Amino acid sequence: MKVLQITDSHLRPRSEQSLLGVDTEESLRAVLAQAFSEGTPELVVASGDLAHDPEVESYRRFQAVLRDFHRGATLYLPGNHDLSAPLAETLPGPGAMTLGDWEVVGFDSHADHQPEAELSAVDLSALQDRVARSAARHLLLVCHHPPVDVGCPWLDKDRIKNGGELLEWLAENTRVRGMVFGHVHQVVERQRRGIAVLGTPSTCFQFAPGSTRFAIDEAAASRQPGYRWLELQADGSIVSVVGRVADYPLSIDLSDRD
Ligand SMILES: [Fe+2]
Repeated sequence: MKVLQITDSHLRPRSEQSLLGVDTEESLRAVLAQAFSEGTPELVVASGDLAHDPEVESYRRFQAVLRDFHRGATLYLPGNHDLSAPLAETLPGPGAMTLGDWEVVGFDSHADHQPEAELSAVDLSALQDRVARSAARHLLLVCHHPPVDVGCPWLDKDRIKNGGELLEWLAENTRVRGMVFGHVHQVVERQRRGIAVLGTPSTCFQFAPGSTRFAIDEAAASRQPGYRWLELQADGSIVSVVGRVADYPLSIDLSDRD
């Protein structure tokens, strides 16, 4: 089972608008063109910050670009830049998808107008119930925020606060094999108690690994727009690889901020 993750596309409502000098619709299109030239996913997961300006028109643009490549199953997760009302007006909510022996379960880690993850005790127990009720042999969870520190304090402050306990619970009690997220605009690949913990580059610009404050990644090997393939294996393992659009003409302009 082949899943394609795209994340943090930060689309703007109008085509003439860029972000940090990047035409985020164009870079999303370049990511999808390359990914779909490599394979056809059974499921696309879009793990949040679909819009930079959370307006209906941004989400319409996101959907229009994706539809040029993919008409099949898609899970849309909200990120901290997204807003619930315009997102719900345009795209389906989080949800889940069964793929053979696997179930991919999306959950909402965001709250409107705040960068940090918001998972209340009620949200967590709802997620635990959802996982416990699944009949699938193996599960993959998807949300926007990381459940672990990634080594960038300015991003780590926004992670799922009780992500450590969540991963412990998942490892002890469930068939969850992996948790994938966005938000950090960089590659994260860890194993925690047998669970693959995977963060994925943005479809536009990346943040510098190890940065203590906001910093764009300018390293040749990791600055380019990216995406992640997840091959869900029958034995419950996940074979995952990050792709990059190596020839995308990325040019950062730090003065181009809203
Ligand atoms: Fe984010």
